Amino acid sequence: MDVAVDETGDAVTDGAVDGAVDGAVDAFIELDRVEKVFDVRKKTGFLKRERRQVRAVDSISFTVARGEMVGYIGPNGAGKSTTIKMLTGILTPSGGRLRVAGIDPSRERTRLAHRIGVVFGQRTTLWWDLPLIDSYKLMHRMYRIPDARYRENLDRCVELLELGDLLDVPVRQLSLGQRMRGDIAAALLHDPEVLYLDEPTIGLDVISKAKVRGFLRELNTERGTTVLLTTHDLQDIEQLCSRVMVIDHGRLMYDGPLAGLHEVGESERTLVVDLERELPPIDAAPARVVRVEGPRQWLAFPASESAAALVARVAAEYPLVDLSVREPDIEAVIAKMYAGDAEAEKAVS
Ligand SMILES: Nc1ncnc2c1ncn2[C@@H]1O[C@H](COP(=O)(O)OP(=O)(O)OP(=O)(O)O)[C@@H](O)[C@H]1O
Ligand SMILES: [Mg+2]
Repeated sequence: MDVAVDETGDAVTDGAVDGAVDGAVDAFIELDRVEKVFDVRKKTGFLKRERRQVRAVDSISFTVARGEMVGYIGPNGAGKSTTIKMLTGILTPSGGRLRVAGIDPSRERTRLAHRIGVVFGQRTTLWWDLPLIDSYKLMHRMYRIPDARYRENLDRCVELLELGDLLDVPVRQLSLGQRMRGDIAAALLHDPEVLYLDEPTIGLDVISKAKVRGFLRELNTERGTTVLLTTHDLQDIEQLCSRVMVIDHGRLMYDGPLAGLHEVGESERTLVVDLERELPPIDAAPARVVRVEGPRQWLAFPASESAAALVARVAAEYPLVDLSVREPDIEAVIAKMYAGDAEAEKAVS
């Protein structure tokens, strides 16, 4: 199938003034009913083309305060990268209002570029054939970074991201994890106030992931850099973000603390009990036995219920030897959330 893609309204007028007030803005990133609709033309036969609209971002509103570190998650095609592209000014919204540091990104992309950093895990902003250090030198000039500041930022990134041995290596020879660290450094040389990361840990091994996470945490706590992080690795979110936004089909489904997802996802905790001997499944509704192995039984119960009450009830009626409570797995909660949505969609179509 031949799909011709046509982006709507991407003209960028650099340097346009729109009277926005700069500086101390409480809500550093502001989206008010932002939309992005793509016109997609699909070939349906010889000379026949069908026009279709894809509503990639559908009336999304949220604000991010200066210094926050927010996770932005959702299934494939949810609209995450499209949102980030609008935040950087690469794409122009089809509707709604969007401001970053008081600036309209698509109208003043160049002015905003000095204040933001962006890392797309899927592609590099570095010069492929040049040694890593040459890309940094080019950025030094492009962004007109004062010499002392450039040196200081470079030294810091080289140290924390362990780039020392890589500076003279052409980018095309770097491994994925090395290149990603190189890209993160490149995004930070000009001291951006906000850093957008679109899947910065994609394809990285455990050690590289830990390095990147440690670096981001420090950047956020020490420098107060605002971070918006898109990822499919929920451990990134668990380890870094106190707030998470879930987007699906272009719509914001959840915005709140990670722990709150458990309630939305109707997640369950598990009480594991060891009985004195093998017994029929324990009867303790609303908890239900999900597994029995000899004298050990697993009882699932709503995460919102008190474990103490359940334990007391089981202990009163059954010969209990030992027990433990397992917290819900965030991966499972999110998988259920995505799946629930897919099922709902199936039911409609
Ligand atoms: N340039 C474009 N032209 C037409 N449609 C597009 C374009 N960019 C994205 N889309 C569509 O918009 C929707 C959202 O895409 P987007 O890249 O924002 O998703 P995502 O949440 O980043 O997904 P992933 O997790 O796979 O990276 C998808 O349906 C996609 O096909
Ligand atoms: Mg994406």
